[in-house]
Amino acid sequence: MMRAVCVDVPGGPENLLLQSVPRPNPKAGEVLIKVHAAALNRADLLQRRGLYPPPAGESDIIGLEVAGTIHTLGPGVKKQWKPDDRVMALLCGGGYAEYVSVPEELLMPVPSNLTMCQAAAIPEAWLTAFQLLDFVAQVKEGEVVLVHAGGSGVGTAAVQLVRLFRGVPVVTAGSPEKLKLAEKLGAVVGFNYKEESFAQGVHDFTGGKGANVILDCIGGRNWESNVSSLAIDGRWVLYGTMGGRAVEGDLLGKLLSKRGHLLTSLLRSRSLQYKADLVKAFTGRVLPYFSDQPATLRPVIDSTFSLDDIAEAHKHMEANRNMGKIVINVIPQIEQTQ
Ligand SMILES: NC(=O)c1ccc[n+]([C@@H]2O[C@H](COP(=O)([O-])OP(=O)(O)OC[C@H]3O[C@@H](n4cnc5c(N)ncnc54)[C@H](OP(=O)(O)O)[C@@H]3O)[C@@H](O)[C@H]2O)c1
Repeated sequence: MMRAVCVDVPGGPENLLLQSVPRPNPKAGEVLIKVHAAALNRADLLQRRGLYPPPAGESDIIGLEVAGTIHTLGPGVKKQWKPDDRVMALLCGGGYAEYVSVPEELLMPVPSNLTMCQAAAIPEAWLTAFQLLDFVAQVKEGEVVLVHAGGSGVGTAAVQLVRLFRGVPVVTAGSPEKLKLAEKLGAVVGFNYKEESFAQGVHDFTGGKGANVILDCIGGRNWESNVSSLAIDGRWVLYGTMGGRAVEGDLLGKLLSKRGHLLTSLLRSRSLQYKADLVKAFTGRVLPYFSDQPATLRPVIDSTFSLDDIAEAHKHMEANRNMGKIVINVIPQIEQTQ
C-alpha cells in the first residue's frame, strides 16, 4: 500500500484526501518510481474540480510530474536504468503519491547539481514550454516572443528557453514582483496587464512590428490585444484558456489581415511516442544547461509543502500567489537523495 492524494468527490481543495491505496505495479516497459517530490500544475486544480479527467486508462490520482529514485524495473525495460537512480518524469497522472509507475521513455536523469525538489519542478512545465517554443512555434534567433503569465511555472521556463534559443522574451504578468522575476530570468521588458495595455507596450517595444510569437495561456479575454500584438506572419500559440474560451468580434478578419497563424497544443493527451520524442529532444538539447557553471537554466521554486498540506498548496496556486513552481515534498526534504 502507499499514501496518495485522492478526490472522491470533485470540488474545492478541502476535497483532497490523503488515503492509503494499492501501490502500482510496473507493467512491461515501465519503471516504478519512489517519489521524493511532486509539483503542482494549473491543470491539477481543474482535475480536482472534475473538469479535466485523465486520459483513458491512466491513474486518476492527480499529479503530472515527479522526481524520485527508481524502486523497481518492470519487465522488458530497455535502457540501463537501475534501482536508486535519481530520475524525474512526465506523467499523465499519479504524481501525488509515494510511488508512481511510468513508461521508461518518459524518464530523465536528475542533473547531479539539482535537488529532488528542484527536479520535480522541471518535467511538465519545462517540457510544455519547450514543446510550444520548439516543436510548435519553431522559434528562431532574434524573434520577439510574448509570454503571457510570465511569473507562472510554464512562463518562468519559457522566458529562459527563449533566451537559450537567442530569441527576445517579452512578458505580461499581474504584479510588479512577477514582472521583476521574469526580467531577472531574461525578459527584456514586461507589462502589468492589470495596469497598462500590453498591446501598446509590444507595439512601442517592437517599433510597430509586433511579436513574432505569442505564448498564450489566457485565451478569450485577450484575443483582440493578442492579434494586435502579433507581427505579420506571426504565430499565436494558444495552450490554455485561463481568461475564458468565448470570443466575440472580428477575430478571423483581424487575424487574416496579419496573415497570422493560430496554433494550439495540449501535452497530456499526446501519444506516448510524441512525448518520448519530446523527452529525448529536451534531454539532449536543454537538460545540460541546468548543470553548466554557472547554470544557464534554473527551475524557479516558489514554495514547498508536505503531502499532508496539499490543500494549502492548491489554495496558494488558486489565489495566483505563486511565482514559479509549488513543490510537494512527498518524503521530507532531509530524507531525500540530494
Ligand atoms: N497546453 C498544455 O499542454 C499545457 C501544459 C501545462 C500548462 N498549461 C497551461 O499553462 C498555464 C500556466 O500553467 P502553470 O501551471 O504554469 O500556472 P501557474 O504557475 O499556476 O500560473 C498561472 C498564472 O496565470 C495568471 N493568471 C491566472 N488567471 C489569469 C487570468 N484570468 N488572466 C490573466 N492571467 C491569469 C496568474 O498570474 P498573474 O498574477 O500574472 O495574473 C497565475 O499565477 C495554464 O493555463 C495551464 O493550463 C498548458
